[in-house]
Amino acid sequence: MKEATEVITTVHVLGPGALGLLWAAKLSSRQTIRLLGRQEGISTLRFSLQEGDIVYRMALPYLPVSSLVPQNETIKTVLVFTKSEDTLPALQSLQPYLTPSAMIVLFQNGIGSHLAVAEAFPDCVVFAAVTTEGANRRDPLSVVHAGRGITRVGALFPERVRAADLADCVALLKGSDLKIEPVVDIRKSLWTKLAINCAINPFTAILSCPNGEITESDLFRSLWPTLKAELVELLGLAGYPVPANELEASVMDVVQRTAHNRSSMLQDRLAGRRTEIDAINGFAWRTLAEKRRPHAANLQLCQMVKELNLDLV
Ligand SMILES: NC(=O)c1ccc[n+]([C@@H]2O[C@H](COP(=O)([O-])OP(=O)(O)OC[C@H]3O[C@@H](n4cnc5c(N)ncnc54)[C@H](OP(=O)(O)O)[C@@H]3O)[C@@H](O)[C@H]2O)c1
Repeated sequence: MKEATEVITTVHVLGPGALGLLWAAKLSSRQTIRLLGRQEGISTLRFSLQEGDIVYRMALPYLPVSSLVPQNETIKTVLVFTKSEDTLPALQSLQPYLTPSAMIVLFQNGIGSHLAVAEAFPDCVVFAAVTTEGANRRDPLSVVHAGRGITRVGALFPERVRAADLADCVALLKGSDLKIEPVVDIRKSLWTKLAINCAINPFTAILSCPNGEITESDLFRSLWPTLKAELVELLGLAGYPVPANELEASVMDVVQRTAHNRSSMLQDRLAGRRTEIDAINGFAWRTLAEKRRPHAANLQLCQMVKELNLDLV
């Protein structure tokens, strides 16, 4: 009886990184959490979560994905916090454990990995969450909740999802005490955030500067008119047309509001980690190229970021 109840209420958190551990910690007071990661040989993950001056010590149940056994583990709800490029393979490794209509909630930046997951798991109920919460890690076990924001959530394919499923998903995420907003068209949020990330993140990584400084650079000044035109084209292709001046205003607004922030791409670059450039400007130039539309600025930025690090693959 206890086991049956556990299957119903357990929330699996795939990808125990900065954002995954923030959400796991936040949800753990109301939900049974099970972290799924790649580290082997442990059954509890002990980590700290810092919010302002307060440091919470956490210890949550942990399972290495490689040691899951189908008879023992059933996954009904999984929140996914891997980087974009890791998302599809990570979820595919969970395939034998997912219930037929499991709920998958994707938190990645970009949109390419979302579409790949929806295609690979047609029977699952796939949600996307677009968050402005900020989390980073001083070391693998010390998470800092660096900025409070809002998380918008909606079904990737609303026509495949019942209203009750969205209500369940929202209720689950609200248990975190983070700000949650259900949205009808989450794809619009995903595409808009993608365009803004394309316009800001690569410059911060290349110039090694906070968001607020990019617009002063010669690189931004020379590339922005072409990049802006490509991003307007991209949003039009996606079905969310936007006038160029409106897109520019949105980008400049984010640059100003986050002027002191270091983008995740810059943080990855400085830490010598692989960046998500392929899921951001890489996805943009490939999408434009497929439709034979101009894409030189996105391609150039993608190549420049790849050349910064060893992440040339
Ligand atoms: N951090 C933020 O504030 C924030 C905000 C908005 C959106 N996002 C998006 O959220 C996603 C995660 O960001 P993050 O900053 O949390 O990244 P992160 O700290 O690098 O965390 C990613 C985690 O995924 C794990 N992972 C990778 N492949 C796996 C697999 N096959 N099975 C299980 N675990 C696997 C990694 O484990 P290893 O240690 O083994 O590599 C790592 O723990 C990104 O797409 C990012 O753009 C982040």
